[in-house]
Amino acid sequence: MTLPADHPLLDGRTTHSAVVRAFSADRPDTPPVWFMRQAGRSLPEYRAAREGVGMLESCLLPELASEITLQPVRRHRVDAGIFFSDIVVPLRLAGVDVDIAPGVGPVLGAPVRTAADVDRLAASGPLTAETLAPITRAVGLTVAQLGSTPLLGFAGAPFTLAAYLVEGRPSRDHLAARTLMHADPGAWRALTEWAADLTGSFLRAQVLAGASAVQLFDSWAGSLSRTDYVTHCAPSSARALSHVADLGVKVVHFGTGTEHLLTALRDVGADVVGVDYRTPLDEANRLLGGRTPLQGNIDPALLAAPWPVLEAHVRDVVRRGADAPGHVVNLGHGVPPTTDPDVLTRVVELVHTLGS
Ligand code: CP3
Repeated sequence: MTLPADHPLLDGRTTHSAVVRAFSADRPDTPPVWFMRQAGRSLPEYRAAREGVGMLESCLLPELASEITLQPVRRHRVDAGIFFSDIVVPLRLAGVDVDIAPGVGPVLGAPVRTAADVDRLAASGPLTAETLAPITRAVGLTVAQLGSTPLLGFAGAPFTLAAYLVEGRPSRDHLAARTLMHADPGAWRALTEWAADLTGSFLRAQVLAGASAVQLFDSWAGSLSRTDYVTHCAPSSARALSHVADLGVKVVHFGTGTEHLLTALRDVGADVVGVDYRTPLDEANRLLGGRTPLQGNIDPALLAAPWPVLEAHVRDVVRRGADAPGHVVNLGHGVPPTTDPDVLTRVVELVHTLGS
């Protein structure tokens, strides 16, 4: 199946947008910019819209999810919207007892620890069009408002999802998940293959409904050695991405602390590698052999620094990204909730004055 004829990439709305061009190894006149977690707690209008509505519940209310997606695009004039949702939404749609605890993150009713736990999960079957309807509808509403600004879809990579499923809550080193990977490789494989198909179908639904590119978040992959990543995680990430491979949209792959994994992140089937703030972009470009567009990597900590410090850093990021075949400016991780939104707007204005 290919994209529907009224998809923004096919009817010309976003085909030549700066973000799609940069993801396609092109260099528009000025570098495009958007921010991970641009839709969220740094915005007063987000906090007002979410008042009294749970995080996952808000992701499943199409009008609300669409409005929250559009808020940062209107305010900051970023070059892309990122769909307001969460990596654990497909788990909730599959019937997993998961919630997002404010200030904590995803919390499971019952962690997945044994082969029998994995079998129970896998028995849930694939997500149907009906189950995915709130996602499809929210994306459709959003794309209708965005015009020539592309909407980015996203999903969590199987390892990062498995890290939450096995740990049961956010953790620093993902010990229980990494133990299962080695102690019971069969159960690990079944778990990550199930997560790959689930997250892949979530990604595919967003693209078919109008997303112009997608990002796979393997936020915690940096806790793995390269060998463990390649052996135990890369196959399921490739499987997740295979769900959109026939649609021809560009794929960004991002994780934190992943300097040792940059080529591996690309080689599972990504077009663009998202770089966190720890690796300078010229170094990332060198590690990737100079043939992969990059996204990143303003240090979120500097958003709270005096403007001249932040301005010098943003200029340095753009300069270091100049040799890559394409560069979309972003943060090296998400917007901290305490960020002054006016600073983000000012960063967008600055980036748009710089040559690409
Ligand atoms: O603006 C955007 O980037 C789009 C929306 C988005 C959210 N989560 C909304 C959200 C995206 C792309 C995500 C991805 C996500 N979710 C990741 C990968 C990116 C990353 O940060 O590494 C991960 C690991 C999650 C899981 C998750 N969900 C965490 C760790 C948290 C934070 C917990 C907290 O409260 O600090 C969440 C909650 C979450 N997801 C919020 C938002 C806006 C905050 C919820 C709130 O407003 O209370």
